[in-house]
Amino acid sequence: MEIYDFGQRLIREAGEFVRLRMQQDFSVDSKMNPNDLVTDVDRETETFIYDRIHEMYPDHHIVGEEGHGTDIDDVSGVLWIVDPIDGTLNFVHQMQNFAISIGVFIDGKPKCGLILDVMNDTLYRAEAGRGAYKEDVRLDPIDDTELATSLISLNPNWVIKDKIGPAFGKIVKDARSTRSYGSAALDMAYTATGVVSATLFFRLHPWDYAAGMIIIDEVGGKTTNLLGEEINILYKDSVLSANQALHSELVEYFSDDAAFIEAHRHVHGEKK
Ligand code: IPD
Ligand code: CA
Ligand code: CA
Ligand code: CA
Repeated sequence: MEIYDFGQRLIREAGEFVRLRMQQDFSVDSKMNPNDLVTDVDRETETFIYDRIHEMYPDHHIVGEEGHGTDIDDVSGVLWIVDPIDGTLNFVHQMQNFAISIGVFIDGKPKCGLILDVMNDTLYRAEAGRGAYKEDVRLDPIDDTELATSLISLNPNWVIKDKIGPAFGKIVKDARSTRSYGSAALDMAYTATGVVSATLFFRLHPWDYAAGMIIIDEVGGKTTNLLGEEINILYKDSVLSANQALHSELVEYFSDDAAFIEAHRHVHGEKK
């Protein structure tokens, strides 16, 4: 079966799996710090997705947040990058506003991106070169905007940090207003659909942004790191997705700030 069709079927099945599984008890553990949560549902959903892909395409490579593919360190062949639940804090606290995110790359080139808003069963999807869709409605190219009249999404935690806070703070001051949704994949889907005009992150992993960057490309938007540099799909990086004009405007806030550039250098360039 064609990869894009299979991916769409798979992400819907995985959504159904999550909606059923979350009605039963599940354990919640912390990972790197007390606010970095993971549940049985994250792990079981990743295994569900991994098993289905592996069964269908035994020679494809699969990287997931919860432990699959830790040994993968090059992009040759077909690579599936999977976040089984993006927005685990929302999943635990709200039981809504979380997504499954799947990006597929062939020899490092985008093939397709899929983001499922699980509780609304709404699929954002794109195949490289063939347009992006929300469910069955083709998305229009996103319009250029200026920061002063734009809604942007970002996590307020970055604004209060010492070295990087001032750059984010200036953006908050100059924007029309900000939003914070708690799922990077949904933030990117909302950027592609024009709900917000840009989304910014100081640090994401490949599974957070892989699908979103493919979808944003297909509506004429741009995704780079916050300094305007190309993102390598197997690396952690900062992420800036926006329409073309706003992207250029926002990069200036970071690339003119020596303290920001210094802090950015220390936490980037690491493999997933
Ligand atoms: C997180 C979410 C969140 C972003 C974090 C991610 P997770 O992913 O996307 O919006 O701010 O950086 O780690 O852990 O819920 O899959
Ligand atoms: Ca996580
Ligand atoms: Ca994530
Ligand atoms: Ca996750």
